[in-house]
Parts: sequence; C-alpha cells; structure tokens
Amino acid sequence: MNLQKINEIKRVTYFRKRDLKNGLKLDSNEMVSDWNKSIYRKIHNSIKNYEITSYPKDNYLDLKKKIAKNLGIRINNFLITSGADGAIKEFFTINSYQKKQRKVLILGESYGMYRIYLKIFNYDVKEINYLKDVKKNTFCKLDKFEFYKNIKKNHIIALVNPNHLSNYDFTLKEIKTLLKKFPNKKFLIDEAYFGYGCFSLVSHVKNFKNLFIARSFSKHFGLASIRLGCLIAHKDTILPYLNTSQPYITNIYSSKIAEFFLDNYQLIKKKLKREIEGREYLIKLINKNLKNLNIHSSNSMSIFIKFDKKKKET
Ligand SMILES: Cc1ncc(COP(=O)(O)O)c(C=O)c1O
Repeated sequence: MNLQKINEIKRVTYFRKRDLKNGLKLDSNEMVSDWNKSIYRKIHNSIKNYEITSYPKDNYLDLKKKIAKNLGIRINNFLITSGADGAIKEFFTINSYQKKQRKVLILGESYGMYRIYLKIFNYDVKEINYLKDVKKNTFCKLDKFEFYKNIKKNHIIALVNPNHLSNYDFTLKEIKTLLKKFPNKKFLIDEAYFGYGCFSLVSHVKNFKNLFIARSFSKHFGLASIRLGCLIAHKDTILPYLNTSQPYITNIYSSKIAEFFLDNYQLIKKKLKREIEGREYLIKLINKNLKNLNIHSSNSMSIFIKFDKKKKET
C-alpha cells in the first residue's frame, strides 16, 4: 500500500440540494417513493431500551438467519457488510494480501468505487468496454471478444449482474463454464441490482469456491440509508472474511428495519413489480411520442436514449 498514492486519490462528496420531501429522487438509483412512515414507527416501537444500551444480541443472529432464509443459503455463507460497497471493499482488501494475484478485469462504465478500491490496493486493472454502434446493433453490448482475449491474463474478474447497460453480458451457462474452466481465478459478481433484471448466482456458491457475490439492501429493498449488504461465498472461501471482520458490523436500527422487510418480503415483491411496470410504461411513452429517438432498455434498471445531434427535433 502506497500512502503517497492514496493521498492523491480525489474523493467526491455530493452535497446536493435535493428536495427529498416534495421531489422525486431520480438521480441515484434510489427508491423513487418512500415506504409508509407507519412502518418505521412500528419498528422503532419494537426496539427495547436495553437493546440500545447493550451490545447486539447474539451478534445479529436473528438478522443473519432471516437473510440466509431469504437468499436460500446458510448463515456461514456470508458476511454482513455496509452495503454492496462494503462487500466490494472487503473482497479487494482481503485479496490485496495475495502478492501475486494483482490483475483485475472489470467492466467499463461500472460503479465508480471499483476504480477507487483498486487504486488504493494498487491492483493492475484492465477495463473491458461496452460497444456503442447502433447500426451494427452493438449499442450497450460488452466487447466480449476483448473479454475472452484478456481473461487468461487476469486473476480476478469483477462482473456487474444485472448491470445498467446490458442487463447481463453472460448467460448463466456461460458464467458457470467460466467458473469451472478457471477454478484458480476469483469471480466477484456484483448483484447490487438484483430484482430488476437477470438471474442470480447466489444458489451456486455451494458449488464454486471461486465465486463471490455482493448484495445490497439499497436498491432491491429501497433502504439505501440503512447501509446493509453482504458478501456471499462458499463456506470455506468466506472464512477469511468472517475471521477478519469487525465484531459488530451494523446497528440496532438498521438490523431491525432489515428484519422487518425480510419478514414482510411481499412488500418488496410488490415494490419491484411497481417499479418494473413504471419502467415499461416510460419506455412505451417515449417510443410512442418520440419516434426519432434511439432508445435502449436493458430490461434492467436504466433506460438509455441515444440523441442524434443532427436531428433538430431531438
Ligand atoms: C453496481 C453497483 N454496485 C454497488 C453499489 C453500492 O451499493 P450500496 O448502496 O449497497 O453500497 C452501487 C451503488 O449505486 C452500484 O451501482
């Protein structure tokens, strides 16, 4: 770790003048509307006084059991983290101790914190870009030729699945083939946007020791401020993460809010359904009213519009 280089990293903090009371949140992939206030009142009233003054009971065992049940895994398959962000950072921190495994393949246009963490730990990064040619029908498609050309040279492969550009770049079968073919490479799959697009790999952690998955409560559950997520892996390969973690990673409020929504998961299913309907409605509306625009929907969480500079109407 080079402190001089770390000092040079420019971190951006957003101080946005957003009217969160009356406005719509459309700029950070957060839940657009809010959960009913009565839910929080109920949760708050359920917290006992002694639960605030004492250390967390059984180190959040109830929360862990509920997460495990929701994901269909065991409690020894995951580490609770501060959002998917925490999972990504934990993953690159632990792997930074492997002196010879320094090469990482990431997807272009990925979440900005990848570059920061990779820089902090001095990884050697290769970014695979997305193509942009509408006429060749490659707009928002990953340059898979480049990916396969580079995979052998890298030790860690970080994919975002679903991702905002293409939804997914590899089928489940393709990812399983990669996991089998390269057992010594580690695959980090960022599933922060699970629920909006494609399949999940969570059920496969028991079969592949080289598979690591980041999950989040921010998007799928619409609870960005509780800062909860997890890093999921095979019980043997998650062990170093569990053994080096802080004893108490979250707090009573976040854990109780997460537990409530895990107990009432039908609320989350309804929310996702509404959001997906909203996405489809918006696409239809744009297609109907603005016919000269090239619109790309990945059936995930973003819609892309390619503006034609030459056309005045756009
Ligand atoms: C692809 C991706 N991964 C991870 C994250 C971090 O999410 P969290 O709020 O769970 O830390 C984000 C946040 O926007 C993201 O876009």
